[in-house]
Amino acid sequence: MDNVKPARRLFFMRSGGMAAAVAGSALLPQREAHAADAAAGSTTLAYPDRRVAAAADLPVNNVSMFNYPDEDSPCYLLRMGEPVPGGVGPDGDIVAYSAFCTHMGCPVQYDGDTRTFKCGCHFSIFDPETGGQMVSGQATENLPRIVLHYDTKTGGVHAVGVDGLIYGRQSNIL
Ligand code: FES
Repeated sequence: MDNVKPARRLFFMRSGGMAAAVAGSALLPQREAHAADAAAGSTTLAYPDRRVAAAADLPVNNVSMFNYPDEDSPCYLLRMGEPVPGGVGPDGDIVAYSAFCTHMGCPVQYDGDTRTFKCGCHFSIFDPETGGQMVSGQATENLPRIVLHYDTKTGGVHAVGVDGLIYGRQSNIL
């Protein structure tokens, strides 16, 4: 193309560019299909919807246990007696947390006197009234909060998700 005059060279360059653009636009649907495939390959599993209690059956300042999102993950269900952030139920006071301490996975215990979860291994303390916030101790992460839903028709409390990573897991849904 060395002997092509500048105007013709420009034409060839432009037409080449247009050809590339046309070819590129023809590839767009293909690219979108690949993106869809990639998205399908990295599918995020949905949390199960599990009824864990009837709100009316829960005593104030007392825990009951259930497993979520699977049988290997014990959790506490707790009615605080007053509305708290993330609380559900008629009074917005029902919360739930993983029973595994975020430091090294020891089971935490609920202390009704201080209204906190305490870990006996290295003395971490978590506050269920502030979303499981780590108050003191060796842990650096808050206690994973189980996301709850209150069914106003049935009065049931349902676990529908987890906010935070359960100790020992790379993903809450295995
Ligand atoms: S395992 Fe709970 S503080 Fe260490």
